[in-house]
Amino acid sequence: MASQTTLLAPSILSADLMNLGAALKTAEDAGADWIHCDIMDGHFVPNITFGPIVVQAIAKNTSMVVDTHLMISDPDRYIEEFVKAGSHQVTVHQETCPHLHRTIQYIKSLGAKAGVSLNPATPVSTLEEILPDLDLVLLMSVNPGFGGQKFIPASIEKIGKLDRMRRELNPELVIAVDGGVTEENADEVVKAGADALIAGTAFFRAADPRAAAGKIKSASR
Ligand code: DX5
Ligand code: ZN
Repeated sequence: MASQTTLLAPSILSADLMNLGAALKTAEDAGADWIHCDIMDGHFVPNITFGPIVVQAIAKNTSMVVDTHLMISDPDRYIEEFVKAGSHQVTVHQETCPHLHRTIQYIKSLGAKAGVSLNPATPVSTLEEILPDLDLVLLMSVNPGFGGQKFIPASIEKIGKLDRMRRELNPELVIAVDGGVTEENADEVVKAGADALIAGTAFFRAADPRAAAGKIKSASR
């Protein structure tokens, strides 16, 4: 297990996009560890966000780890661009990668950490063979496509299953959870086995983001 304190990754999708610089500062000042960049293509998910040039602008202006979540079909076509843009971690969806082993090796060969994300209906058992090769798994606790959705309660059991799997197969694996994470459920999510929490609405739309971050980061096993 990679970390003792809970890592916080605000999702830039929920920030005021007219003021990206201010959003990065808010996240940094609040002690955020990663900045989560949600890339959507209107094909794999029913929404379109932004591409490598925005990730590059973010990467050039922050000291946080740039954590890029590719919710796009055929991600192999774009991985290099996102790494060149400054992504330290690139996560692809299992559902978009018929040759997942090759894709993971490719991300690593470019010098970035490699992650796989699973939709709520995709079982963690599908990762058994690839788990030793991964730096992180991003478990979706909502159906990807939009910020501001409600946490799916069955995710808790799934996090626990993955936590048990990693003990045997890859103790260094980081488990991140994405979607509907709040100050209220952070503790339960971390107790189930999460190391990193993605928070869009719960961070950027909070009345006091610093206080929200403090609460989320203090969640512990
Ligand atoms: C959902 C995205 C999430 C989302 C999180 O498709 O992958 O990262 O922006 O937003 P909240 O925390 O509002 O659910
Ligand atoms: Zn995401």
